[in-house]
Formats: sequence, C-alpha cells, structure tokens
Amino acid sequence: MLEDLLDRNSRWSSEKSAQEPGYFARLATRQSPDFFWIGCSDSRVPANVVAGLDPGEVFVHRNVANVIHSSDMNLLSALEFAVDALKIREIIVCGHYGCGGVKAATEDLPHGLADHWLEPIRRLARSYAVDLATAETEETRRDRLAELNVVEGVRRVAETPIVQRAWKLGADLRVHGLIYGLADGRLRDLNCSIGRG
Ligand code: CO
Repeated sequence: MLEDLLDRNSRWSSEKSAQEPGYFARLATRQSPDFFWIGCSDSRVPANVVAGLDPGEVFVHRNVANVIHSSDMNLLSALEFAVDALKIREIIVCGHYGCGGVKAATEDLPHGLADHWLEPIRRLARSYAVDLATAETEETRRDRLAELNVVEGVRRVAETPIVQRAWKLGADLRVHGLIYGLADGRLRDLNCSIGRG
C-alpha cells in the first residue's frame, strides 16, 4: 500500500521534471499562490485537483465540514500567514454537496468529538429550521444546510481580526463562498463574496 504511493510519487516527480525541466527547483525557492482555500477534509474534494491548480497555486486548510471556528488556532494561523505573509487576495470557503460532516450534524448525537466540532452547523440548522423544512427530501435539506454553512463561513472569515485589519490597511482582499458537486465535479459560486477589489 505505502509502496504503491511511493511508486506513484516517484513516477509523478519524474514525469513532471521531464515535462518541465527545473520545475521543482523553481517551486522550491518560493510560493506565491493566488488563492487560500478553506475546504472539507473529504477525500473527494482535493482543492488543487477540483480547481485545476498546480502545486504552488493554492494555499490550503481543510477540516471536517469546512467549519470556521473563530478560536481555531490551526485555521487562524494559516489565515494569518495567507493574508499577512503570502498577501493572498482571494480566500475561498468551499463546501460540498453530500457532506458527511453536515449529515452528522443533522443526526441525533452522539458522534463523539465531532459533535463539538459540528456544533456551529447544528446551530445553523436551528436558526434556519423554517427555511430548511421546505426542502423536499432529506438530501436536499442537507445540501441546503451545506450551502448555509459556506455562507456563514464566509461571514466568519470576514469578521476575523486578521481580515478586518488587512481591510483597514487597504488590502485588496475578497472572501468567496463556493460549493462543489460530487456528482458532476462542478464548483458553484454561492454569490456571497465579501470584500473589495
Ligand atoms: Co464534507
């Protein structure tokens, strides 16, 4: 298993170097990605692959159900580095339909630690209960909740002192919300962008 992975890496690295001599040496000197991606850990939604981006083009943070906790040191450290050091202008919060984390948040407890992690999604489901109740199927309801989680995530990222400070200093910085369809491989803009530029 692990040997397969190492073999695949070795083949990939050789092919890449053959196609573009000096590729890795160039990439090793610095990174200047245009995007900071905050997405779900789901193996079916790898940022680089679904966005068609090469190594070096997107800075990534992923967690279960792309939840933005305003006290998450992991996320905040990545966000601060993206905004202050890498000067990234486009932040993307990306959710996906068929999200297992969102599903877990709509089920009865307990899922262990995940129930703490997913609490913001449960809260959203309570706040939008009337709206969500109009969904025809359970699946549609969860997908709508996944969209709401992205919109809320965009708002929360925009409210962080890191982003607020960047805007005060005049940075061209935007936060966008996208949702990915597992069934068709397409990213959709939820039209909830915040920011200038
Ligand atoms: Co997910």
